[in-house]
Amino acid sequence: MNRDESFRVSKVVILDFGSQYTQVIARRVRECRVYSEILPCSVKADQIRNTGARGIILSGGPASVFAKDAPQIDPDVFELGIPVLGICYGIQLMARHLGGVVEFSDRREYGAGTLTVVKPSPLFEGLPSRLQVWNSHGDKVTRIPEGFETVGATENSDFGAIQHPGKCLFGLQFHPEVAHTPLGKDILENFLTKVCGCQHDWTMGSFIEQSCAEIRAKVGSDRVVLGLSGGVDSSVAAALIHRAVGDQLTCIFVNNGLLRSREPETVQRIFRENFRIRLKYVDATRSFLDLLSGVTEPEKKRKLIGGEFIRVFAEATKELKSEESAGHHYRFLAQGTLYPDVIESVSISGNPAALIKSHHNVGGLPEKMDFELLEPLRQLFKDEVRQVGLELELPREIVFRQPFPGPGLAVRILGEVTDERLEMLRQADEIVVTEMKANEWYYKVWQSFAVLLPIRSVGVMGDERTYENSAALRIVESQDGMTADWVRIPYEILARISTRIINEVKGINRVCYDISSKPPSTIEWE
Ligand code: XMP
Repeated sequence: MNRDESFRVSKVVILDFGSQYTQVIARRVRECRVYSEILPCSVKADQIRNTGARGIILSGGPASVFAKDAPQIDPDVFELGIPVLGICYGIQLMARHLGGVVEFSDRREYGAGTLTVVKPSPLFEGLPSRLQVWNSHGDKVTRIPEGFETVGATENSDFGAIQHPGKCLFGLQFHPEVAHTPLGKDILENFLTKVCGCQHDWTMGSFIEQSCAEIRAKVGSDRVVLGLSGGVDSSVAAALIHRAVGDQLTCIFVNNGLLRSREPETVQRIFRENFRIRLKYVDATRSFLDLLSGVTEPEKKRKLIGGEFIRVFAEATKELKSEESAGHHYRFLAQGTLYPDVIESVSISGNPAALIKSHHNVGGLPEKMDFELLEPLRQLFKDEVRQVGLELELPREIVFRQPFPGPGLAVRILGEVTDERLEMLRQADEIVVTEMKANEWYYKVWQSFAVLLPIRSVGVMGDERTYENSAALRIVESQDGMTADWVRIPYEILARISTRIINEVKGINRVCYDISSKPPSTIEWE
């Protein structure tokens, strides 16, 4: 809502009533190359008008409109003259506020259904008259408000899709945003273009151009410091800011001794040599590993690593500031914050989005560091960040890399972190990455990595008896890291990874495959 007024692409806003699919709606809209923004459902009609939105989408939600604390909408939203599309809970709110009847039901209609289109509507233009749709609702509309007409019916509802053409109000009882409604994206696209008149002007090329102009205007002749982790977000932020202000950006890359094999070299090669970005490399390996010596408790490890990172980073920025020349001081701290981290999640029981936020807010840098924040990726979803990365010509190995936790390999070694264990895990990890990349599985899964279990068991190697450690292999699929399932990876790949680790990594004589889902397990082992 506080966006720069100069941002002129077509935009729709999505009012969030606590649906687990709100972010999915926002992403579907952006896939149609229309900019979307999520606002809390409590937003006032005037505020919506001020955003310049061309359309409003009301999300679904887990609540019943009859519940005591059911999330409400400012009824003036329907009077703004801006087209509204109510989805699921959204259609019920619309019907109730405008004089229709909604009936309470404690039995959810859940699953696939067929919508039969019975009347022409811009929403269904160019689509077949029978569509597969996905339902997930309890209450349902039993009488539509005056002026509305039925456009489509399903097996269980005469009002699967309704419209008030004069007022540009539309309602869908089903969920067009989910993959189980195969033509749902076309319905949304029809709403955006045929009803709201949006242009397809949200492209990553236009984003880069716009964003660079904004960064230049904000930074002026001052300087920017950015903590580069080598992950996708900080890397894309670095490349983007560098495109905008060149050498006014300095990246700090801290080697905490817990990185993967060759990671420090790779990051320096890409950013310093290929991109010619000013990069301050801080080798703090010893200070981290000395601190971790003898520490076995997982939370203590995390706290020590987090605290030490802040200390080392602050020290490095102090050094930079001491090199400042007159009139060019380090005023900004850049971060790769993404859109899902800044959305105000609606706290409604049953809304998993509310949980995701706190989980991802992993110990940031202290406020007292006296910088202004520069967060050029705040409007983007992860897939958009990757597209920006590609447009900025970052290599595929950076753009499509899997998430890697801040505390690094320390959360993949059970018990004490030692040089010897780190070395074993690095070798095993490199084998996993190489083999997963060799057949493209690396890019199909959320994460794939090895964990070192310092539990020794007997084995035989040649004619020798061995007594060595085990490695666990963790390969999971996930949308956001909040829930995950283990991947049914072909046996041949498992076999190859296992054979290579046991043959090539001295100190490991056994490999197990982790077949736990999250919950109740977690993705990392610590
Ligand atoms: P868990 O183990 O909690 O991990 O199931 C969920 C996702 O979060 C990543 N992860 C982290 N990422 N800093 C991060 O930036 C951390 O401290 C951290 N701990 C876990 C993990 O890799 C997985 O993708």
